[in-house]
Amino acid sequence: MILDSHVALVTGGASGIGAAIAKKFSSEGANVCLCDIDSEIGKKTCQNIGERAQFYHIDISDEDAVRATIEKIVQDYSKIDVLVNNAGIASDKLLLRMTKDDWGRVITTNLTGTFLVTREVIKHMVKQRYGRIVNIASVIGLIGNAGQANYAASKAGIIGFTKSCAKELAARNITVNAIAPGFIETRMTAVLPDQVKQSYLKLIPMKRFGNPDDVAALALFLSSDQSSYITGQTICLDGGMVM
Ligand code: NAI
Repeated sequence: MILDSHVALVTGGASGIGAAIAKKFSSEGANVCLCDIDSEIGKKTCQNIGERAQFYHIDISDEDAVRATIEKIVQDYSKIDVLVNNAGIASDKLLLRMTKDDWGRVITTNLTGTFLVTREVIKHMVKQRYGRIVNIASVIGLIGNAGQANYAASKAGIIGFTKSCAKELAARNITVNAIAPGFIETRMTAVLPDQVKQSYLKLIPMKRFGNPDDVAALALFLSSDQSSYITGQTICLDGGMVM
């Protein structure tokens, strides 16, 4: 069991990539704190995973809620070894039509939310002089995409944030890395028209979309002691789409 007796916090763990990461971590022995804004789906996902998963309601963009939830988790488990900042949203629109609200919602959830959760969690990781942080970015944060200026900016921000955190926390034995998935089949991508999906497929040398388990496998490696000398990196997981 790679994560035996570890405590792992996964944001956005109710569905898609986060749920697959939570399940994988639990199967490797971790106690998983599954944090999500969607209590209904989150609780169901925890039931499916089993007794090592516990649901915590959180809106990662709400500073007070983040503080209270992290405090509760530390009260319940007395430590947090692994943090996966996975919760995220998209709100696609061409730039000329993008309102300040469209921009702000995505930046506040994806980027500010990642900052708020990380800041609270590292208070505890620094004291215990151990931690693994995995941020879910996106290839769009590296290459950009028409209609996704807000999303691309938030994910590029996460990549810069990852490097800064890695430098700041390395001496405390805390590694911070990012995963940049390409096209992964979840409800976020299910809404895209077939034509758009086919155009993505043409850009993927491996000629298939990724699935959440592909991301979970890399998240497990970056959360384990097997990756103890890797920090500040952004690893693309995209079937060769960006190279
Ligand atoms: P999803 O929509 O299935 O999962 C996102 C989860 O985040 C949901 O459970 C949702 O309730 C939760 N969430 C949203 N706002 C929240 C908030 N304010 N506080 C707490 N939880 C919140 O989507 P998916 O695809 O699993 O996305 C997971 C992450 O992977 C996101 O950060 C996304 O940007 C990223 N990603 C996804 C890709 C894909 O192709 N599906 C590609 C690259 C990155």
